Amino acid sequence: MLEMTATPRSRLVDAIEARFRADFGDARAHPFRRFFAPGRINLVGAHLDYNGGDVLPMAVDRGIYAAMRLRSDGRIRCRSLDQDLAVDIDANDVGARTRPEWGWAGYPIGIWHGFQQRTGLGAGFEAVFGGDLPIASGLSSSAALEIVTAIGLDALHGTSLERQQIALLAHRAETGFVGVRCGIMDQFASALGRSGKVLLLHCAGPRWEHVPFDPEACEVLVLDTKKPRTLAKSGFNERVAQCATAHEILRTHARDLPHLASYTLADLEQSREAMDEVLFRRARHVVTEMGRTRAGAAALLRHDYTTLGAQLDASHRSAAGDYEVSCEELDVITSAARGSEGVFGSRLTGAGFGGCAIALLRPGAFGDVVAKVSEVFRQRFGVVPAFDVLRVGAGPGEID
Ligand code: GLA
Repeated sequence: MLEMTATPRSRLVDAIEARFRADFGDARAHPFRRFFAPGRINLVGAHLDYNGGDVLPMAVDRGIYAAMRLRSDGRIRCRSLDQDLAVDIDANDVGARTRPEWGWAGYPIGIWHGFQQRTGLGAGFEAVFGGDLPIASGLSSSAALEIVTAIGLDALHGTSLERQQIALLAHRAETGFVGVRCGIMDQFASALGRSGKVLLLHCAGPRWEHVPFDPEACEVLVLDTKKPRTLAKSGFNERVAQCATAHEILRTHARDLPHLASYTLADLEQSREAMDEVLFRRARHVVTEMGRTRAGAAALLRHDYTTLGAQLDASHRSAAGDYEVSCEELDVITSAARGSEGVFGSRLTGAGFGGCAIALLRPGAFGDVVAKVSEVFRQRFGVVPAFDVLRVGAGPGEID
């Protein structure tokens, strides 16, 4: 039943090293080095990052691993254990944007491009990547791929960039080079991950704090619906555009504030006539979600997982109702989780539209929750979801 349970880390790293030796050789004089960057789940704060709001993500103990080495001949060579496409290019051919034929490798190449622009260091590199996150399920495998590449280039060149700079470089690679209009949450969550801590990120600054998470009191269950996130890209970009329009209307009809997340429900009411119903609901999600993130962060500080769980439940309702980024599978799986003994709360994670949900559990509740949710989900969709308990990860870095 626990199909998501990942390959043990040591076996994964062994497989990456074996592939590196097979494809690139193992020069003793010029050894490769190994790096890791985590994926993330977001406890509360759905779709707030690109609206200048507060989010509460947690770097997990799963992510992307890489074996990397610089090259002096100006070549860039990328391999993945999970993708067939292998890419070998000349660094001189890298422009301001990715190319369709580079596929997944557009992420590491985009990082190389940003790193080279920032530092002036343009040596090529070769890398093999592998991961233990479900790919494209809302746990931010792409941000982990970006951060592991950036951490690797930084270490190989000895540039000692700050984690915040690495996160911003990765965010620029994703928005500018790859062309996804995401906010900063995923890259910051991965780059600033810290053992035993959740990140309270104020995206408007950005500013952040690390808030302790008590694994003895609460576990994070990931529930993979296995529903592909086919609409995620178009749906995501549409939400970004709708929020920008709602913000423009509020600026003229209520007050001139820098971010949509800064407005109040009273501002929204004042502008209601000027907005169509859909825009009004999108803006209402953003404004009310800010309150849930704040309440969730305050609850986390008190280790009050019951109140934090209630924020997750309310966040899911708003994301499904006002923001319309849920789907039947996510609604059914989160509602089945909520109805199970020992669950504090449950919501979709990532952009939504399919993929994974999360639930906060009382330790020990795992077996019963999984049995119940699997049965409800299987009866409804004929599919058995995958489950896994994720822990707060230690953040990115070099592996000894
Ligand atoms: C995706 C984006 C993030 C964020 C979330 C929604 O994961 O990459 O920037 O907007 O969706 O909270």
